[in-house]
Amino acid sequence: MIRFILKLYRLVMRFWNALVFFFRHLDGRVRKGSWLKLNVPLCCDGTGLVSIGSRVTIGYGLSAMLGDGTVRFKARGGAARISIGDGTAFSNNVQIFSERSVTIGARCLIGDCVLILDSDFHDLSAEGRHHLPAVKAPVVIEDNVFIGSRAIILKGVTIGKDSVIGAGSVVVRSIPPGVIAAGNPAKVIRPL
Ligand SMILES: CC(C)(COP(=O)(O)OP(=O)(O)OC[C@H]1O[C@@H](n2cnc3c(N)ncnc32)[C@H](O)[C@@H]1OP(=O)(O)O)[C@@H](O)C(=O)NCCC(=O)NCCS
Repeated sequence: MIRFILKLYRLVMRFWNALVFFFRHLDGRVRKGSWLKLNVPLCCDGTGLVSIGSRVTIGYGLSAMLGDGTVRFKARGGAARISIGDGTAFSNNVQIFSERSVTIGARCLIGDCVLILDSDFHDLSAEGRHHLPAVKAPVVIEDNVFIGSRAIILKGVTIGKDSVIGAGSVVVRSIPPGVIAAGNPAKVIRPL
C-alpha cells in the first residue's frame, strides 16, 4: 500500500513538474526533444538559449536532495547557450550557469549538486571585478561522461568521451577521453 502511494506521489509530482515547466518556458528560449522526464523541477533562467535533447532525465528520487531538488540551467545573456545531448541524466540540484556555451553530449550522467560555470562572472582585477566583464570560455562535456557528486567544472574545460570525474573534484583543465580524473585540481588517476 505504502509503495503504491509513493509511486502515485512520484507520478503526480512528475506531472506537476512538467506542467510548471511548460508554463514557465512558453517564451521559446528552451527547445526540447521528446520525452523529457522531470523527477524534480527544472528551471531554465536567463535570456540565452537552452536546448535539451530527447530522453533526458532530470532528478533522481533516491539521490541526495536539497529542498525540492530543482535543477537549474541559467543561460545568462542573449549569446549564452546551454545544450544537452540525448539520453543524458541529471541528478538533483545540478546547476549550470553560462555566459558563453556549455555543451553536454549524449548519455552523460551528472551527479547531484554538480556545478558547471563557463565564466568567472567577474573580472579578476581589484577594481574591475565590480564592473568589467569576465573571462569566458566554452565548456564541453563529451558523450557518456560520468561526473560524480558535487564536482565543479570551470571555464574552458573539455572532458573527453567516456571519462569519469570523481566526487567533489574541481576541474580547471581539460581531461582526455577514457580516464578517471579526480581531486582539486582534478588530475587523471588512471585510464578506464
Ligand atoms: C573517482 C572514483 C570513481 C574512483 O574510484 P576508484 O577507481 O575505485 O578509485 P580508488 O578508490 O581506488 O582511488 C584511487 C585513487 O584516487 C583517489 N580518489 C578517488 N576518488 C577521489 C575523489 N573523489 N577525489 C580525490 N581523489 C580521489 C584515491 O584517494 C586514490 O588515491 P591514491 O592512489 O593516492 O590512494 C570514485 O572515488 C568516485 O569519486 N566516484 C563517484 C561517486 C559519485 O559521486 N557518484 C554519483 C552519485 S549521483
